[in-house]
Amino acid sequence: MEIEFGVFKKAYQTLKGIVGPTPMIYNEWLSKQYGCEIYLKLENMLPIGSFKMRGATNKIASLTAAEKKQGVLAVSAGNHAQGVAWAANRFKVQATIIMPEGSPLTKIRNTEALGAKVVLQGQNIEECFQIAKEMMKKKKMIFVHPYHDPLVIAGQGTVGFEILDQLPEADFVFSSIGGGGLVTGIGQVLKGHKSKIKVIAGQASGCSTMVDSLNAGKILTSEKAETFADGIRVKNVNEDMFKSLSKVLDSSYSVDDEKMAWAILQLMEKARVIAEGAGALPLALFDQLYQKNPKKFKGKKIILVICGGNIDVNLLERIIDRGLIESKRKIRISIPISDRPGVLHQLTKIIKDVGANILQVVHDRDSSEAGITGTNVFFTLETKGEAHMNDLLKEMKKEFPKVKVIS
Ligand SMILES: Cc1ncc(COP(=O)(O)O)c(C=O)c1O
Repeated sequence: MEIEFGVFKKAYQTLKGIVGPTPMIYNEWLSKQYGCEIYLKLENMLPIGSFKMRGATNKIASLTAAEKKQGVLAVSAGNHAQGVAWAANRFKVQATIIMPEGSPLTKIRNTEALGAKVVLQGQNIEECFQIAKEMMKKKKMIFVHPYHDPLVIAGQGTVGFEILDQLPEADFVFSSIGGGGLVTGIGQVLKGHKSKIKVIAGQASGCSTMVDSLNAGKILTSEKAETFADGIRVKNVNEDMFKSLSKVLDSSYSVDDEKMAWAILQLMEKARVIAEGAGALPLALFDQLYQKNPKKFKGKKIILVICGGNIDVNLLERIIDRGLIESKRKIRISIPISDRPGVLHQLTKIIKDVGANILQVVHDRDSSEAGITGTNVFFTLETKGEAHMNDLLKEMKKEFPKVKVIS
């Protein structure tokens, strides 16, 4: 899809005073950790928590009065839904959004709160597109595509203009790919300005048909769409988007869910930023590449586009828990002890002396490991990390050699 540069410039003018600019924040912790300059472009700070209101606003702003009267229809797993709902509300246009059954509750609730009518139908985005087609046959509405539309892409491209205003000397920008609108937009604006900034982007490895296609140099198909990063769970490759991305991307990779979960936790702890899976992917991808070749990034200026922050709190809780367990900051241990007064105290004293914190204790006399005269004690403990856990285990083993880490 050829989009003239003027369309991008016009979008930047249209969105001025309505959407953005979002902050570009230097992060000291991450910069020190990686020996380069890390900047976070905080799209999660927009009123709907993602960049998606850029494209939707540009599209809806460009409709004629008669088109606005018809109302708009969109298909989305969440963020585009909120973007369209927000923009429709801003321009007093009726919005209907088809979302797959099982979409995150936060995203459904927020879309409805913005005044849109939500239709929960279809198992996935592809089915939602079919439902939209049928709906359009019955009622004329303007369809706002999540990525395959020059005006939507130009709207997303305003992130690129802001990057050029805020950090034109950057070396790399990392972003996420779903259908490809965001990265096409950013990439075309940067290339249009003859910027030297390299564009690197990623998809979730459980749903990476676009990245696999880009790396294979031809369009591939896959039925796989398994990732918790719902914002980028797009399994079909659109030919136009494939061609556009091939032109603007310097390289693309897939990133697994574990790594994205790790990045969500990093962003919370190191930057006090809440990101959803797709929003944290740029950090996950950067770390993945950095681990392979740190020299490539030494001293460089790196922008991570934190493209969305709409994560379900229940999922966030699970991610935090998993992250703490993986980094051994939360551990579960079991210790068979003899069931006599004072032994539990002996155990808790070791824990106290090492400086770990007890979150939970279960005293299980029925455990098969306990024996007739014993009991099994399960502790959930908070530690400072793996080294601290090992110190604790070393001390415990002196008096309780059968201590075992369960998780
Ligand atoms: C948070 C987030 N990041 C990235 C993307 C990918 O955008 P695109 O479909 O334009 O590639 C989306 C898409 O909805 C998203 O919600």
